[in-house]
Amino acid sequence: TDAAPLVVAVDGPSGSGKSSVSREVARRLGAAYLDTGAMYRAVAWHCLDSGVDLADPEAILEAARTMPLTQSTHPDEDVVLVGEADVTEAIRGAEVTDVVSTVAVVIPVREELRRRQRAAIADAGRMVAEGRDITTVVAPDAHARVLLTASEAVRTARRSGQLAAAGEPGVDAGTLNRQVVGRDARDAAVSTFDRPAEGVVLVDSTELDFEQTVAAVMAAVEEQAGEA
Ligand code: DC
Repeated sequence: TDAAPLVVAVDGPSGSGKSSVSREVARRLGAAYLDTGAMYRAVAWHCLDSGVDLADPEAILEAARTMPLTQSTHPDEDVVLVGEADVTEAIRGAEVTDVVSTVAVVIPVREELRRRQRAAIADAGRMVAEGRDITTVVAPDAHARVLLTASEAVRTARRSGQLAAAGEPGVDAGTLNRQVVGRDARDAAVSTFDRPAEGVVLVDSTELDFEQTVAAVMAAVEEQAGEA
């Protein structure tokens, strides 16, 4: 078996499919999987749960520093705990999604989560880590770095499909598109994806299905890290 250390960094905007694609790439590489967006979401959940004033960056930082987070890094296991509370589903809900960018723009919160992310990557040995700043800040020295994008229209359509699959009440296409554009605008405070950073391979999944996207990322890993 192939157990050489391997770090794969994947960044991309919301709705680019980076979570499901990164999970599958991790399975195929026999690697662990780190969803860093879930960590920002867990901080937001923790703040809401403990009544932290989201207008107070110091209070958000204190919540981030003391947050007892347990996150599975097995690609087949999606479990996020804050203390004893299983927040796996709650962190993807509308309440958390609405406020997560407020915690993500607090620079010392980012430093705290990056410290945890680097520790998780170092621990794992083989890891696919996914987010917004992994290729550029968290793991710029990763063996392979990929920016996964898709057109705004495709990202809106995929979001619609996800909501339907989750049995959520129907939201009209115009509203969904405004939500995607709004999230892009808020996330732009943290990262923009107009073009990949130097040395980062661009995979545009606009015209690709899931299988083809996974294959394209695997090819990028092989090209950069010499394995697949
Ligand atoms: O990928 P996601 O939708 O789960 O990310 C949730 C939020 O966290 C989103 O507003 C962007 C932010 N985020 C970040 O700032 N840095 C990361 N590495 C990952 C996510």
